Amino acid sequence: MRILVVGGAGYVGSTSVETFVDAGHDVTVYDDLSTGHSSAVVRPARLVRGSIEDRAHLEHVLREDRTEAVLHCAAKSLVGESMANPGLYYRNNVGGGVALLDAMRAAGVNRLVYSSTAAVYGEPRRVPIAEADRTEPINPYGATKLAFEGAMRWFAASHEFRAISLRYFNVAGATERNGEDHEPETHLIPLVLRVAADEATHVQIFGQDYPTPDGTCIRDFIHVRDLAAAHLLALEATGEGDSSFEVYNLGSAAGFSVREVVEAARKVTGRGIPARVVKRRTGDPPVLVASSRRARRELGWQPQHSKLEQMLADAWAWRLTHPTGYARPPRTDGAPLDRSVSDGRGERQVPRPGAAASV
Ligand code: UFG
Repeated sequence: MRILVVGGAGYVGSTSVETFVDAGHDVTVYDDLSTGHSSAVVRPARLVRGSIEDRAHLEHVLREDRTEAVLHCAAKSLVGESMANPGLYYRNNVGGGVALLDAMRAAGVNRLVYSSTAAVYGEPRRVPIAEADRTEPINPYGATKLAFEGAMRWFAASHEFRAISLRYFNVAGATERNGEDHEPETHLIPLVLRVAADEATHVQIFGQDYPTPDGTCIRDFIHVRDLAAAHLLALEATGEGDSSFEVYNLGSAAGFSVREVVEAARKVTGRGIPARVVKRRTGDPPVLVASSRRARRELGWQPQHSKLEQMLADAWAWRLTHPTGYARPPRTDGAPLDRSVSDGRGERQVPRPGAAASV
């Protein structure tokens, strides 16, 4: 399959690219490198630098590659940032997403898998959360992901279009090659491992008075490898049939508390990892766990790596082999980010229509 992975230089996207390349697919990554890393794109996948809001550039790349299917992982994804700057989230996640849909339609590409979020459910009324449960996001991040799902649904209703949205919560773990390198980092596991690596003195536990067995929040973690496998199964499932829009939750259906995560990280790393309880973080629901029965039944998804210890061990191994995360190569082309056409490795240049290629 010829696959375009939009946002394929990020944590989830780059690991999916690895899986697709290993399965023999022909992969191009389209990424503005605002949060992704060019060195996360494994060969022989190609990297085209561009903005998801640039419809014409996307269409050009889709046509030139004769793309058969698209994986979309290019969203802004921090809840706190979305509360501070909702415009950024609507522009990127909704406006950019619709630009992608329009470009796909113009280029005759009608298969899309969207890496969505279980944040579309908001505060769940019951756990584990099923796909048909009420969607009532409590922040612009979840709202913009849900809005884009709505656009996918209507494209499938109005055009020949087969689309799948995968909703999941917390992703963890790493491959040998790719791992989590965010700046700023807000997620629990990488912050815990920073303490294990002596880069911080202690981890903060945001509240210990939740209605859970140990008083800390419970979250559903899946291994990034299992998520990548789900992305591939979903892409394959868009191969034939009538126009459709389907939603699948991905999760472990069990969940681990914040304290359990810290305790397991102590065992895995052999480090003390001091922890201090501080006040609750705004907007954290006590328990978030998704039911993935439908994905298991219909996509044949079988998570293989999502044991907490394995996720932590893999994330820790990646940290030890990448103590400074990804190297950040200096920019050489001098072009504004959303107009750049070089992959920075001299492998391929895809000019915007009417624009001169720069190297
Ligand atoms: N936590 C701490 N200390 C920290 C960081 C996190 O105690 O230093 C706690 C949080 O309060 C929360 C749990 O660890 O209870 C997990 O927090 P993360 O920030 O790692 O992840 P979230 O559950 O907040 O975020 C996930 C996804 C988002 C999604 C969100 C929806 O990563 O993409 O669920 O609620 F939007």
